[in-house]
Amino acid sequence: MEKYMLIDTHAHINSEKFAEDRSETVARALANGVGSIINMGDTMESSKHCLELTEEFSCCYAGVGIHPEEAFPMTEGDLIQLAEWTKDAKVVCIGEIGLDYYWEKDPDKRQLQRKIFIQQLDLARQLNLPVCVHNREAHGDTLDILKKEGKGIRGVMHCYSGSLEMAKELIKMGWYIGVDGPLTFKNAAKLPEIVQAIPLERILVETDCPYMAPVPKRGKRNEPAYVKYVAEKLAELRQVPFEEIAGQTTKNARELYGKLAKI
Ligand code: NI
Repeated sequence: MEKYMLIDTHAHINSEKFAEDRSETVARALANGVGSIINMGDTMESSKHCLELTEEFSCCYAGVGIHPEEAFPMTEGDLIQLAEWTKDAKVVCIGEIGLDYYWEKDPDKRQLQRKIFIQQLDLARQLNLPVCVHNREAHGDTLDILKKEGKGIRGVMHCYSGSLEMAKELIKMGWYIGVDGPLTFKNAAKLPEIVQAIPLERILVETDCPYMAPVPKRGKRNEPAYVKYVAEKLAELRQVPFEEIAGQTTKNARELYGKLAKI
């Protein structure tokens, strides 16, 4: 076991890409200092699967929610089901929810994304739970909705791709910035500057596995063990010891996701 502990705050080991070696994947995460993994649901079915994985693996936690790319007209029954799942001690948030205008160009479907995003923000408020937000090429609408409909809710803007100004606004609102593989890419754009300019107390590390593996695993299937490469890059950019990054980002994850065990 390593001396440090990291939390992969956004993973999808429920994905079928891990069907053959899920136990080994979890074992590799533990062997690489990852103490907890939060798997995020994106459909009703995957949310349920993420919850089941919390029973199978003691280090696994879950978010439940409908991802914008999977948007469908949610009924009262769906919202009641999500709420029911959150009663479990290991369901830490509503997520992942949000807007994706990169993949979705149809105005009606974008409207549906906004509708269910707001419904799920309302649900999070009622349940007093944080949210994990996906935002791709929808910065303006995402921030508008959070300001108007997200009052009193805290969360993380996962896989951050916005500007420094937007990050500062989110931080003022009490939010966190999630960073993953793209921070290590040569074409990381503004992200390295952003993670140097914002308080370390507001940064979460994540993999979003099986997607977007960090360098030196870029192009391969991503997995929670690789979250250390994101933390290493953060340490390099901020010129602080790796252990400090691990300790602070773990503390941050526990602050946002209050239901994470204090292990
Ligand atoms: Ni994700």
